[in-house]
Amino acid sequence: MTNIAIVYYSATGNIAAMANAIGEGAASVGAEVRVRRVAETAPADAIASNPKWQAHFDAMANEPLATLDDLEWADGIALGSPTRFGGPASQLKSFLDTTGGLWFKGVLVNTVGTAFTTASTAHGGLESTTLAINNHFYHWGSLIMPLGYGDEHVSKVSGNPYGASHVSRKGSVPDEDSLKACFVQGRQLAQVAGWVAAGKSGA
Ligand SMILES: Cc1cc2nc3c(=O)[nH]c(=O)nc-3n(C[C@H](O)[C@H](O)[C@H](O)COP(=O)(O)O)c2cc1C
Repeated sequence: MTNIAIVYYSATGNIAAMANAIGEGAASVGAEVRVRRVAETAPADAIASNPKWQAHFDAMANEPLATLDDLEWADGIALGSPTRFGGPASQLKSFLDTTGGLWFKGVLVNTVGTAFTTASTAHGGLESTTLAINNHFYHWGSLIMPLGYGDEHVSKVSGNPYGASHVSRKGSVPDEDSLKACFVQGRQLAQVAGWVAAGKSGA
């Protein structure tokens, strides 16, 4: 069984929907999947200033938070964040900054990592966010898995080889095309992580 952890931050729900679609893709090839949000760190008045943010915050109150154990457990890790000024949200970064102990022990070496994002405009930093998230994988010693163009849905429809992405222009939520790209990315992550895990165990 291949273990896949999907760790994300989402303020208004777009990345949360994409994370679930990645989970469905991984599960479709038999992986065991954990989809985990990171903690909200913004002040209550900032959250309350945006009804969509408050609604998502309230809806997620009982959903489990990502832990270091989830990363240690995983053969493959997908990290997701909305684009914030061209990079990942501080909430995700806060969680990732607690992984120093795992890094020190080399626990994450040869895990397979992949990243996904959303931004409100097509040229608002989708790729720079994906690449910035990927920097963590370099330091962990992970093998970075791009979405690439191997699947026809990506090469002909969704179009972003860096990682699944959604342009939430005018508040649009992830559509069928974006969610399908996420599904493909999750399926591919589970397959590649499974090959690597089998190689490590000499199977
Ligand atoms: C503080 C802040 C900064 C943002 N920065 C960008 C940006 O640099 N480029 C962009 O296109 N969208 C930007 N956005 C829009 C979000 O990335 C976009 O709405 C995203 O779909 C939200 O995802 P979520 O629903 O998972 O929180 C920003 C939003 C906020 C609140």
